[in-house]
Amino acid sequence: PPYTVGVLIGSLSVESINRTLASALIRLAPAELRLHEIPIGDLPLYNRDFDIDYPPAARDFKQAIAEVDAVLFVTPEYNRSVPGALKNAIDWASRPFGTNAFTRKPTAVAGASIGAIGTAVAQQQLRSILSFCNAPQMNAPEVYIHMRPGLITDDGEVTVEGTREFLAGFMQGFADFITRVLTIIPRD
Ligand code: FNR
Repeated sequence: PPYTVGVLIGSLSVESINRTLASALIRLAPAELRLHEIPIGDLPLYNRDFDIDYPPAARDFKQAIAEVDAVLFVTPEYNRSVPGALKNAIDWASRPFGTNAFTRKPTAVAGASIGAIGTAVAQQQLRSILSFCNAPQMNAPEVYIHMRPGLITDDGEVTVEGTREFLAGFMQGFADFITRVLTIIPRD
């Protein structure tokens, strides 16, 4: 440590509750994690015809993934799956074949929905994608947030103590997981 963590937010909405959750997680993270968002909203749609020459936005995005020590996904669930914008971003970073930027990159997954299932189904599908991308995943704890009004303020303060402690524990667990993965199997 310290470790850098890229945060991928699966929603492009300016009012995103997952962006709010991400700010809470960033606030609650232990000091050994340096978190910053890696934006996905300006990426064109992936097309393998670009594999010989990525457009600048995609090259920069993939480089940003390659440079961080770990990646935190905070995503909504769209139609019981991963939002297309996030899947598109993952596809860019995973290609061209043989240069996948997620290989052996420690990852964690969290999400918030307005419904009670709290993005559980989308997260399971995301985990399947990350498995294929050979990214080690923190398995537990899982974070399925049913977002109620006022649970997290606009600037990322969690108002319910139990939820705040749970999310802080998740971030400490992620820091420990990153340390274990990068100590046992250094990427370089
Ligand atoms: C949703 N929503 C949703 N919620 C859920 O729990 N399961 C789902 O499958 C879906 N499907 C879905 C599809 C589409 C296209 C939209 C726009 C929304 C509702 C979703 O939880 C809600 O809009 C959240 O506010 C989305 O997260 P962000 O964008 O606020 O971070």
